[in-house]
Amino acid sequence: MYKVFNRFKSDKLEHGYVDVYLNFLEKLKNKKLKILEIGVADGKSIQAWSHYFKNSLIIGIDIKKIDLKKLNLKNKNIKILKGSQSDPRFISSLIKKYKNFDIIIDDGSHFPNDVISSFKMLFPSLSQNGYYFVEDTQTSYIHFFKENPFDLKYSKTHINVFKELVDRLNYQEIANPFYRKSYYDGKIKSISFFHNILVLKKGLNEKKSNLVLNNSYENKRYLEKIRRNPDKQLMYFFKYKIFYKIYTLFLFTLNFLKKFILLRF
Ligand SMILES: C[S@@+](CC[C@H](N)C(=O)[O-])C[C@H]1O[C@@H](n2cnc3c(N)ncnc32)[C@H](O)[C@@H]1O
Repeated sequence: MYKVFNRFKSDKLEHGYVDVYLNFLEKLKNKKLKILEIGVADGKSIQAWSHYFKNSLIIGIDIKKIDLKKLNLKNKNIKILKGSQSDPRFISSLIKKYKNFDIIIDDGSHFPNDVISSFKMLFPSLSQNGYYFVEDTQTSYIHFFKENPFDLKYSKTHINVFKELVDRLNYQEIANPFYRKSYYDGKIKSISFFHNILVLKKGLNEKKSNLVLNNSYENKRYLEKIRRNPDKQLMYFFKYKIFYKIYTLFLFTLNFLKKFILLRF
């Protein structure tokens, strides 16, 4: 992979992104995949992908018209389409045409709103065990990209959207009986953050928690305790089903008020 990216003088090498790509994608090199890259520019990375993934179809999209002849993007396994990554009509026509993608790389505008909207639109069409890469995540930290570096935790950046998805990855473990299920629960296998690039792997994630049952810690503990000591059922009922439940409800109410006062929903 280094050789190919070097040959096409791609800046993905100097940014250290090729190290990350190699780590996740080397095993897929000879597979027949559909790879979508958002952002074509002068076609360096599209050319590199097309040479590296010889058996795959490489689809590049760009908001600007790309001159295929001038950029020598005529390899049989390259398709280039003009459109915006945040245009729902364009993205749905793309999905209609190609159905699903095994690898998606967002190297487009790098504006948080664009990154977030493309991810939301494209995630359903990412194949099982497929990878979604987002490059140049540093724009999440720069106010000139319409972001807020002065309130890192609560600004609506794409890095925060992916940080929040870590909770969806661990949805089974959240000991809040009032937890509201999210579309992403059970659909994400891993999320890896690197300097300025992140990788999400889609896949079935339905492994049960060993500590929490249906978003309740006390329910799980109660069942375990009575299984081990059936004769103490009444005592455990009062402890876990009444006392601990009241405690959980109290904490829930306290946090609800806190979020309400701070306007954090
Ligand atoms: C960083 S360059 C892509 C570089 C290329 N992937 C490479 O590594 O050789 C970003 C490209 O994204 C395109 N772009 C900007 N906004 C976009 C949008 N909303 N939708 C699709 N492409 C966009 C730009 O026209 C530009 O060509």
